Amino acid sequence: MKKALVTGITGQDGYFMAQFLLDKGYDVTGIVRRNRDMRLGTLEMLPRETVQRIKLEHGDVTDAQFINNVIKATEPDEIYHLAAQSFVGYSFHNPQATLETNIIGTLNIVNAVKEVSPKSRFYFAGTSELYGTAEKVPQDESTPFHPRSPYAISKLAGYWLTKNYREAYGIFGANGILFNHESEVRGPEFVTRKISLAAARMHNGSREVLELGNMNARKDWGYAKDYVEGMWLMMQQKEPDDFVLGTGVLHTVRDFVEGAFEVAGMNIEWKGNDMNEKGFYNGREVVSVSSKFFRPLEADNMLADYSKAKRLLGWKPKTTFEELVKLMVESDIKKA
Ligand code: GDD
Repeated sequence: MKKALVTGITGQDGYFMAQFLLDKGYDVTGIVRRNRDMRLGTLEMLPRETVQRIKLEHGDVTDAQFINNVIKATEPDEIYHLAAQSFVGYSFHNPQATLETNIIGTLNIVNAVKEVSPKSRFYFAGTSELYGTAEKVPQDESTPFHPRSPYAISKLAGYWLTKNYREAYGIFGANGILFNHESEVRGPEFVTRKISLAAARMHNGSREVLELGNMNARKDWGYAKDYVEGMWLMMQQKEPDDFVLGTGVLHTVRDFVEGAFEVAGMNIEWKGNDMNEKGFYNGREVVSVSSKFFRPLEADNMLADYSKAKRLLGWKPKTTFEELVKLMVESDIKKA
């Protein structure tokens, strides 16, 4: 039986990765950051029998000794390093915490692989945010990076740590450069889930106004469940490599709002521009723009060219933007 270690198992990607690996017959260990209430994040949405099949180790990725001990004791065939401070907006307010978790956490794992478990394969959760102000559209594995947030800078260090340990010490380190991937278990601070939750609440009678930031921001949005398969495929290759995963289709935040409210049975009518733009349903204001949710800088024009993953991994996204919006809103309506 193959063994996998997943950091960040209580997050969105951990939720899908844990199920994917269990279905494939892996022995799965997950690292969970200790918290007072012993909450298990997204894993709490899985059936109890599924969670019981996962071995949980409580500790922090920034604790080198803890990481060394876990990796030495488990000697995993594959390590999926998904733990991170992953919210770009937060990283502008808390750059140091972001850099510590994302850089030191990654260093601790690649170093533990080198020192105590050199046969373990390592996956690093890289990101399209590395491209920042992209110099070329669409972006592939050879497009230069220009990170535009403390988060992106921390991920750039992780990307290079992975490459450096691969080149210097021969570890199997793969970088996934993943474009935005969302789902019904996405954290509510991310824009897609913020919208799907609000649309579901309003469908169920709430009379709130959804406040958003930059409605013109354009993202390449896919379904997280499709992406964990891509991560796994990267780890099955003969040689470690870097791969872009995305959909190759761009949509604005406004498109997401329109799609989500349509699924909730509400057709939005837009009035005004920029900061004064508002969305109305049946004459009632339901969406507005607030400066609170703008970032000092935006990473723009990020569009995936995933042809390498298609060619070498046989990977392509299975879920369209419309299907993604629908599944998220329908799930939230059911839960509300
Ligand atoms: N969160 C948020 N809230 N974003 C908003 C809002 C709002 O009210 N209004 C507009 N946006 C815009 C943001 O400015 C950004 O351009 C876009 O919506 C998406 O924001 P997020 O959903 O917060 O995601 P992200 O693109 O910054 O980052 C996500 O994707 C990256 C690429 O895969 C995160 O998952 C990162 O960890 C990941 O690396």
